[in-house]
Amino acid sequence: MSIEVHINWLSGTHLVGRLHAADRSPSVSFEYAPEWLQRDDAFAIDPTSLPLQRGLHHATTLFGAIQDCGPDRWGRVLIERAVRKKVLTQKPYRDIDYVLALDDASRIGALRFRTDAKSSFLAPTSGKLPPLVRLNELLSATDAIHSETETAQDLRFLLGAGSPVGGARPKAAVALANGQLGIAKFPKPDDPRDIAAGEILALTLATKAGIQVAEHQRVILAGQSIAVITRFDRAGKERTPFISASSLLGLAEGDLGAYTMLADGIRQFGRDVPGDLQELWRRLVFSLLASNYDDHMRNHGFLMHEPGRWSLSPAYDLNPVPEMDRADTNKTAITEDNGESSILGALAAAGRFGLRAAESKKILNEVFTAVTGWRNSGRQLRIKASTLDAYASAFEHPLIDETESVLNK
Ligand SMILES: Nc1ncnc2c1ncn2[C@@H]1O[C@H](COP(=O)(O)OP(=O)(O)OP(=O)(O)O)[C@@H](O)[C@H]1O
Ligand SMILES: [Mg+2]
Repeated sequence: MSIEVHINWLSGTHLVGRLHAADRSPSVSFEYAPEWLQRDDAFAIDPTSLPLQRGLHHATTLFGAIQDCGPDRWGRVLIERAVRKKVLTQKPYRDIDYVLALDDASRIGALRFRTDAKSSFLAPTSGKLPPLVRLNELLSATDAIHSETETAQDLRFLLGAGSPVGGARPKAAVALANGQLGIAKFPKPDDPRDIAAGEILALTLATKAGIQVAEHQRVILAGQSIAVITRFDRAGKERTPFISASSLLGLAEGDLGAYTMLADGIRQFGRDVPGDLQELWRRLVFSLLASNYDDHMRNHGFLMHEPGRWSLSPAYDLNPVPEMDRADTNKTAITEDNGESSILGALAAAGRFGLRAAESKKILNEVFTAVTGWRNSGRQLRIKASTLDAYASAFEHPLIDETESVLNK
């Protein structure tokens, strides 16, 4: 199988290269198109696994940048159900089949795929995303997926223009009132608490802590919270290239990475290196103080605004995790040789982020002030007291005490 890979860049869609995928095997190869290589502003779509060179690049699994715009656990469930119910005729075997099953209009980032010059971009789209007013229909369709009672119509609706973007949690692409694209993140029946309320609270606290975050709002439907996040990889009709931190670093599946490795990645491929290093350290400290244990390397991302240079995307998928639920999560380590999470460890590593001691303490203090005001912020967001109580141990814990003593509070 051979697929044309295109990219939306500077108001046009350009052929970047061709992907060849072996039949029923994960092996792939990619070759940049001569017309792309000849451009003055040509750039690598994936700086680590697809450097900008002529000739074939080979890999035993799909290249990171292409995997990043495919589905994750939630999308795969939908696609597999759709095959079972004959809504999709082609059974996906390889990772690339799953990527191509997703809707072109809502695909994350700027890559687009088609089989040849005469065909439309995959998966063909009606171009119409469900507007926010149809959230209730999207919610009942996702509920039907959880209870395994979904109809072919539910699957068509969820896999159609409102196609699943990546990630494990139930979600759908939606059109916001102002015409921007959004992601609606829905509850699951087995959620131990109001997850969307926690995410919106964390994004609010992160903003107060001086972190750049994706625009967000909480919508309440039938007593349930839904987090609606504005997409940062679109500007009007334009698409902005996106890759995950995992791809920037060329990590293999299951490779956990570390914040200092990401700092090295920013040094190598970044646009505003000192600014992004400082921002990353702020996010690292925020993740410690707000117990954002879900900070794996697909929950950090980069956007390209200047050819070949990658900038940290606004922060997304921030989730405070109370103490009792931490056993199953692997928090990203501060450094590659120390998996222990501590404020002293973060301060000791600050030099790798280009920060002097006084600067790092100032940032720590700003993050501390934002996080310790969590209950007030939660009340202002009208989150129920019982929900806030369920999150208390995410914001009141020994690392907060450690910060107090480091800052002499
Ligand atoms: N605001 C945004 N704009 C563009 N892309 C986004 C945005 N937020 C998230 N994404 C992309 O969508 C993917 C899924 O979103 P998100 O991480 O919020 O979902 P999730 O299901 O909670 O993920 P996880 O599997 O980490 O729990 C992200 O990995 C990222 O690639
Ligand atoms: Mg995520």
